[in-house]
Amino acid sequence: MINVLLDNNIIIDNLLGSRSNLFPVSKKVYEILFDNEIYQGYISSSSLDNIEYILFSELKKTINLSNKQINAVVHAAIKDLLTKVKLAKTPSYIDIDYDDIEGSQIIASAKAIDAKVITRDTGMIKKYPDIAMHADVFLKQHDKSSTNIPFLDLKATQQELSTELEQGFDRVLNSGWYILGPEVEAFEAEYAEYCEAKHCVGVANGLDALHLALLALDVQPGDEVIVPSNTYIATWLAVSQCGAIPVPVEPDPQTYNIDPAKIEAAITPRTKVILPVHLYGQPVDMDPILAIAKKHGLRVLEDGAQAHGARYKGKRLGAHGDVVAWSFYPGKNLGAYGDGGAITTNDPEIADRINVLRNYGSRVKYVNEVRGFNSRLDPLQAAALRVKLKVLDEWNIRRTNIAACYSNELINTGLLLPFVSEWAEPAWHLYVIQHPQRDALQKQLSVAGIGSLIHYPIPPHLQAAYKELGFGQGYFPIAEDIHQNILSLPIGPQLNNTDTVIAALKVITST
Ligand SMILES: Cc1ncc(COP(=O)(O)O)c(C=O)c1O
Repeated sequence: MINVLLDNNIIIDNLLGSRSNLFPVSKKVYEILFDNEIYQGYISSSSLDNIEYILFSELKKTINLSNKQINAVVHAAIKDLLTKVKLAKTPSYIDIDYDDIEGSQIIASAKAIDAKVITRDTGMIKKYPDIAMHADVFLKQHDKSSTNIPFLDLKATQQELSTELEQGFDRVLNSGWYILGPEVEAFEAEYAEYCEAKHCVGVANGLDALHLALLALDVQPGDEVIVPSNTYIATWLAVSQCGAIPVPVEPDPQTYNIDPAKIEAAITPRTKVILPVHLYGQPVDMDPILAIAKKHGLRVLEDGAQAHGARYKGKRLGAHGDVVAWSFYPGKNLGAYGDGGAITTNDPEIADRINVLRNYGSRVKYVNEVRGFNSRLDPLQAAALRVKLKVLDEWNIRRTNIAACYSNELINTGLLLPFVSEWAEPAWHLYVIQHPQRDALQKQLSVAGIGSLIHYPIPPHLQAAYKELGFGQGYFPIAEDIHQNILSLPIGPQLNNTDTVIAALKVITST
């Protein structure tokens, strides 16, 4: 997403019929801006007064209406303008130029949102060559603009919600409450309700959520925890942080998730917890796992880091097992603008333990019941998460639509496409395909300007970090095979050129 801020002259040219014929370039800027989803148009909030004034004075000269009627026309025009462009604030860290106060406000507004100012004012371009750009130059650059598609455009998530985020951040900054407090509590209540769980406790990140949840389940040094061989390393690290031992179980090669049929063989008298991961946003088949846990007296911790909003058999992930650990890492379906994490559970005792563990082992200030940690969800992140939680379902639908496009269009390309069980409603965090020449495919996509990633290139058991567990190459062949062939295609709520990715993949796979 490219931010551009329109100078007053471009706006007035478009709003006044008499000027639009004189300056066709301004009209063209409007057309390109509003016809191309890669751009987000802005005007500086400090421009509004002046635009109102100029429109009023120009109309007064040319049409025979009362002041009240002209005002109505002007206000309707500005209202309509604000349906097309967003307002950019004028920040307080502005360098005011007293010879051109409004110009310096416009420049500062553009800087704050990392935008170029599109203008016809050559004086402004001379003075601010890095920020101001002539409308003619913008048109030329647009013609040449590349069709690069990043794997995920994180900046675009911020741009879509910038107004609501600004409001949330201001609320926290003005509250004077910067650790835990009402913003975190409000998010916890809202996320628990969303997850159909009774409790939510916010923590500092997803790894901590897993670690503290294991501690709350009373995992001790020397205990064993069953983990997938195919996962992000954080799942294993949380187990190691407790001094416990991760015991890997291979995935179902179709779903990539832990294979419930292989779990019982891995259970020993030291097993305490089964830790399935809803990888790539695809829910794990929980019922057989819960049955095994019940049979053997084990607890179940779910790693939901990649699956916000997914449903298993119609019920939202959040409390199928004893407790679910969530990450709000920025790229997640529900992502913060920094680190963040949480647990959800129906068990008040687990929630209470984590509530104490995250805050120095303390319930009452300076009274420490246990040796705890400093792992609290930041109120600024909680404010952002509250904004993003409101759009999570809508954004997951956008992801689902992208996944449906890929699945429909790539069916005869020789790529192995994701499998979805009939009881699963995935969150489509990632759209993962397989191809025997994965590396070559990734390179060709890159040449076509299309980003892709591998989740993940090295399985945890082959990482140097887990050398001492003694698992070498060949120990977990299903995970190893997956890691060698998988590729994640671009997917995200702001991706709107799926067609380009599909077209490129069709060409690459047909040659
Ligand atoms: C499956 C999985 N578990 C745990 C984590 C850890 O989350 P965080 O990065 O917030 O610590 C992540 C994300 O990075 C993840 O993808």
